[in-house]
Amino acid sequence: MPGDLSVLAARRTVRFYRPDPVPEDVVRALLEAARLAPSAHNAQAARFVIIQSPELRRRLTSRMSRRWRRDLERAGTSEAAIRVQLRFSERRFGQAPLLILVGYTLEDMDEYPDRARRTAEATMASQSAAAATQNLLLAAAAHGLGGCWACAPLFCPGIVRRALGLPASFVPQALLTIGYPAHTPPMPPRKPIDAIAVFR
Ligand SMILES: Cc1cc2nc3c(=O)[nH]c(=O)nc-3n(C[C@H](O)[C@H](O)[C@H](O)COP(=O)(O)O)c2cc1C
Repeated sequence: MPGDLSVLAARRTVRFYRPDPVPEDVVRALLEAARLAPSAHNAQAARFVIIQSPELRRRLTSRMSRRWRRDLERAGTSEAAIRVQLRFSERRFGQAPLLILVGYTLEDMDEYPDRARRTAEATMASQSAAAATQNLLLAAAAHGLGGCWACAPLFCPGIVRRALGLPASFVPQALLTIGYPAHTPPMPPRKPIDAIAVFR
């Protein structure tokens, strides 16, 4: 791969980190990368919450965990399996050196009277947040950091907003854990180009 695209191959989902903190200037560099992403209408709908307060991190993690337990219980998951999953989740969100919540706002998106176009706008805002997230994770890889994109906030947006005191306009999309990798995971298998693309 040409030199400046090598970060695409270097980026990997990393779930375990060394305890070293991520310096503030690097955090800002990641946000700068996110800011450069394409966005629908150039409305820049993506929003980021850098969770610095240990108290807020604990509150967010424990409330999300409680909610997930309820969902797993309702699905009939065994108590032993629930404990394993929750322990892993609490550990990853509790111990990651850097935790960033990604969301979007519809504030600067177009408004429509009909549901179909409102849904399309929300999808565009979500896609814009995803594009910004990928930029951020690629920048993290370029800085020698690993990260993991966790979709948990999608399942409990109200809980996330209330735990962090965010306005109703903030639509949670992902919780990113970031830090210096404690290991180098192998590249998970990829489908071949022929399985994902057609030429017409
Ligand atoms: C939208 C999205 C949601 C994801 N949600 C989770 C998640 O909840 N937990 C997790 O451990 N990884 C999550 N991942 C990471 C994927 O599992 C990972 O990207 C995939 O296995 C490919 O591995 P790679 O990122 O190392 O290439 C998510 C990734 C994306 C793009």
